[in-house]
Amino acid sequence: MATPRKILTVFGTRPEAIKLFPLVHALADDPRFESRVCISAQHREMLDQVLDIAGIVPDHDLDLMTPGQTLDALTARALVEIGAVLDEEKPDWVVVQGDTTTVMAGALAAYYRKIPVCHVEAGLRSGDIYHPWPEEVNRRVVGGFAALHCAPTETAREALLRENVDRENVHVTGNTVIDALQWVTARIAQEPSLACGLADLEARFSGKRIIGMTSHRRENFGEGMQNIANAVKDIASRDDVAVIFPVHLNPNVRAVMKEQLVGLDNVALIEPLDYPHFARLLDISHIMLTDSGGVQEEAPALGKPVLVMRETTERPEGVEAGTAKLVGTDTNTIVRETNRLLDDGAAYAAMARAHNPFGDGHSAARIADLLASA
Ligand code: UD1
Ligand code: UDP
Repeated sequence: MATPRKILTVFGTRPEAIKLFPLVHALADDPRFESRVCISAQHREMLDQVLDIAGIVPDHDLDLMTPGQTLDALTARALVEIGAVLDEEKPDWVVVQGDTTTVMAGALAAYYRKIPVCHVEAGLRSGDIYHPWPEEVNRRVVGGFAALHCAPTETAREALLRENVDRENVHVTGNTVIDALQWVTARIAQEPSLACGLADLEARFSGKRIIGMTSHRRENFGEGMQNIANAVKDIASRDDVAVIFPVHLNPNVRAVMKEQLVGLDNVALIEPLDYPHFARLLDISHIMLTDSGGVQEEAPALGKPVLVMRETTERPEGVEAGTAKLVGTDTNTIVRETNRLLDDGAAYAAMARAHNPFGDGHSAARIADLLASA
């Protein structure tokens, strides 16, 4: 049998871990590969929550997170420390996913050693380098030299071709987030206790429609976050709704949300949920209000209308399919659009249709086959 290919998968944040665990599982079970995992731990608690549920024990944990870290300091440390792991492991391929600092630094460290990079979730483009910031540029950097581009959708593939990426290196694989969501849904079905921790809140808010909420984008810090908090206050003044808001651990998010929203009757500010509990929150929510990338992909799969608190999106598929709507960060617009969905049954029904523009749940297997044959 041929020598297995050594694949080093590098990631650092919650969403990368969620979208890469299906691939890490697939590589681990496949004799064509020798799989290694390196986490930068750009996130700590929020990353560990995913590692726990997915049963992943990294071979290298760089433990890079510092409170309130800056983009440049994190980038510099990640580049040097991931580089050292590459020198030790000497993998045949490096796999990264998405658009974070870890992704850019991990890919660059591989490029500096002429190790080919597989970019999962390649080709998402908003066309605006400040929305999302700095993720749009992180993704473009990796797109400039990856050897294998796993585009989740045809739209993403076309964006890469417009940038003159060699078409032979671009493959539409679907997004592994759907693999992850299906996996966690099956785990919860086997073991319901994995997602039973919201029962008290569900009882407290019984009879009200739940709005699931997340917010963390850097470009929204300051005025945007303040506007979002004001919108939540307004929406939660209705007595027929309740907002469940797992607050991101970034101190820039927590400071505003705690100051503005603590103590409101119809708002539950809670700690970040592990993935099974977040899947449960998606399930019980009538509407999702978010600036997250991943949630824009998961909500359509579950037929949950999602109002996206961003000016642009690099994930137009949900908007085109009608389950997602861009509402920006203007307080009045967020409140108006939320109230419209709450009060206008036809508007709600038009958005609440389950469909899957982002994948079919078999993306990790496709990516593994590509890595075996590339
Ligand atoms: C990062 C990514 C963003 C991604 C988001 C997912 C960059 C520049 N940003 O943003 O693309 O959408 O993750 O959530 O790569 N913190 C903790 N514990 C944690 C995680 C974060 O305390 O488990 C706090 C720390 O103070 C940390 C701060 O949050 O310094 C910011 O973390 P960082 O990874 O730099 O940025 P995010 O806003 O989380
Ligand atoms: N998520 C989670 N717990 C939470 C909030 C979100 O597990 O409390 C999951 C969510 O299901 C999605 C991912 O985290 O898969 C999105 O991560 P985030 O919003 O932090 O980052 P982004 O997708 O915007 O990069």
